[in-house]
Amino acid sequence: MNKLFKHIGLAIALLFSAVAFANGGDAALAQSQDAQVWAQLKDGVVGYTDSKSEFHGQAINTYDLRVLEVRADWLAPALMASLFGMIVIFILFIAVNGISKLHHGYSGKMVYRWSKSDVAIHWLGAIPCLLLIVTGLVLLAGRFFFQPYLGEGVWAGLVNGAKQVHDVVAIPFMLGWALMTVLWAKNQIPTMYDVKWFMVVGGYINFGPFKGKHPDAGFANAGEKLWFWTFAMFGLLISVSGMLLLFPNLFEPSRNLSLLALIVHGVSAIIICAFSIVHIFMATVMSEGGMECMVSGYCDENWATQHHNLWFDEIKADGTLKYKD
Ligand code: HEM
Repeated sequence: MNKLFKHIGLAIALLFSAVAFANGGDAALAQSQDAQVWAQLKDGVVGYTDSKSEFHGQAINTYDLRVLEVRADWLAPALMASLFGMIVIFILFIAVNGISKLHHGYSGKMVYRWSKSDVAIHWLGAIPCLLLIVTGLVLLAGRFFFQPYLGEGVWAGLVNGAKQVHDVVAIPFMLGWALMTVLWAKNQIPTMYDVKWFMVVGGYINFGPFKGKHPDAGFANAGEKLWFWTFAMFGLLISVSGMLLLFPNLFEPSRNLSLLALIVHGVSAIIICAFSIVHIFMATVMSEGGMECMVSGYCDENWATQHHNLWFDEIKADGTLKYKD
């Protein structure tokens, strides 16, 4: 009887070992097959699927993950710096240097400078541009800089709202960009006296050898020309890359092209944002009397002679000088 139990026990033990061995072998085999499939997936091997959509034969995204690192580690902090950093720098600059006052005060005589449609076109591009900067900041840098301080629901609402607004206001921005670029380019051609303007920082520095300098400027001064051409060039890049991100199947779909668009979009946003901050400070705070140009289209005569002397001389000479009634 004892012997019989021993045999049964041995048989059961053997059975268990055999099952265990078989399972272990299966697991090892499955593991090596997994590794093989994973390696193939990472290499971008394409399989078969019923779906007819582009890329559906490829189970996972295969691209250089460093692109995402560049986005998180460089572009996101750079966009924060280009917005908040520039604001801080400008506040400090104005605190130390002061603003550019009209030396002879306001004359009260208003000179025609921009047409009503020019003013409308400016705000058609400018207001969406400001909204794009703010919402773009949420989309690019929000996850790293805002999300940790917000509740889940607030963050979800914020980022979803930012995405909707960003997509919609991109359209008037592009329209404004195209109109400004085409219609205003003739007044923004660089000339030799622009170099002199840069050498004395446009006469905006209120101390040292720069104090009291009034460099020559035509309709647009050298700083405005720099802003205009930066806006024209990076406005084009941001628009094209934005369209590629919005409509990835517009041309031959390509993940690499989408990733390139992502980087170009971020870099262009950083540059346009930094320049916009400077532009807004110059128009609203730095240059006394400057803002009126984009409100009524007219500027004070003393502002015209102080900041755009060659243009004022020109319109006086050719008879196109027009005062507000
Ligand atoms: C609160 C925001 C803004 C204010 C107060 C403002 C104000 C002004 C003013 C006063 C001018 C006329 C300067 C002159 O006659 O010499 C101007 C021109 C211009 N603005 Fe703006 N602007 C703002 C935002 C923007 C934004 C976001 C953009 C980009 C889309 C933009 C693009 C331009 C361009 C391209 C010009 C012509 C070049 C120049 O004269 O500087 N502006 N702006």
